Amino acid sequence: MIIASNFKTNHTRKSTREFVSKVADFAKNLSVDVRIYPPSSALDCFDLSKNIKIGAQNFYPAQYGSFTGEIGFEQLEEFKIDSLLVGHSERRSILGESNELIKEKFDFAKAKNVEIIFCIGEPQTVWAGGSLAVLDYLWNQLEGIDLKYEKLIIAYEPVWAIGTGRSAPLEEIENTLSFLKEDIDRPLLYGGSVKAENIAEILRLKSCDGVLVGSASWNVENFIEMIKIANEELK
Ligand code: 13P
Repeated sequence: MIIASNFKTNHTRKSTREFVSKVADFAKNLSVDVRIYPPSSALDCFDLSKNIKIGAQNFYPAQYGSFTGEIGFEQLEEFKIDSLLVGHSERRSILGESNELIKEKFDFAKAKNVEIIFCIGEPQTVWAGGSLAVLDYLWNQLEGIDLKYEKLIIAYEPVWAIGTGRSAPLEEIENTLSFLKEDIDRPLLYGGSVKAENIAEILRLKSCDGVLVGSASWNVENFIEMIKIANEELK
């Protein structure tokens, strides 16, 4: 079971250190797999147990080069980063990343043999069209992605549920994940307004293998509480 925190554009280098140290201390003997994705300015080498990884929210698909403002793979290797978010909806919609660029990033990261949390999710207009429209949209986002890649994790994050406080209904999450599971033999996460109050019921869904959490995870005590609840669910 994977519990991941996406910091987005929050936390400093100093507060990230404090956060990681508290989480590492709490989760070191648990069976839950924890992921933390700080902003790139806060990446560093941390002393962590095997079930905890620090990853990058973004990278440019090049080892190094002239890509002003971007972070290449050499800069990630310096901190032994081996988990990456690819295709987050904020990168797609706010930063204008196309399916083509996202596929390029996926292929690059796969060639580097690192873990990839590949994010997909439909906007509200598509959601309004019903479950077939949603699945059609998601499969389009997955086109060209090697779904057999052994370090691939899929995160289903409906855009309209991100940062809104309104998580998708449980039945819909299960419906979508179970359809994806028919063709994807990799862990499937849900993301979108996950918090301590709803994490247990989401993790209990048959097809859900974990969660990718934004805002509710930025406070370290809240995140630790969610890890604790997830660990209880494993028992
Ligand atoms: P929220 O948990 O704030 O809805 O964000 C989800 C998300 O985008 C995680 O990647």
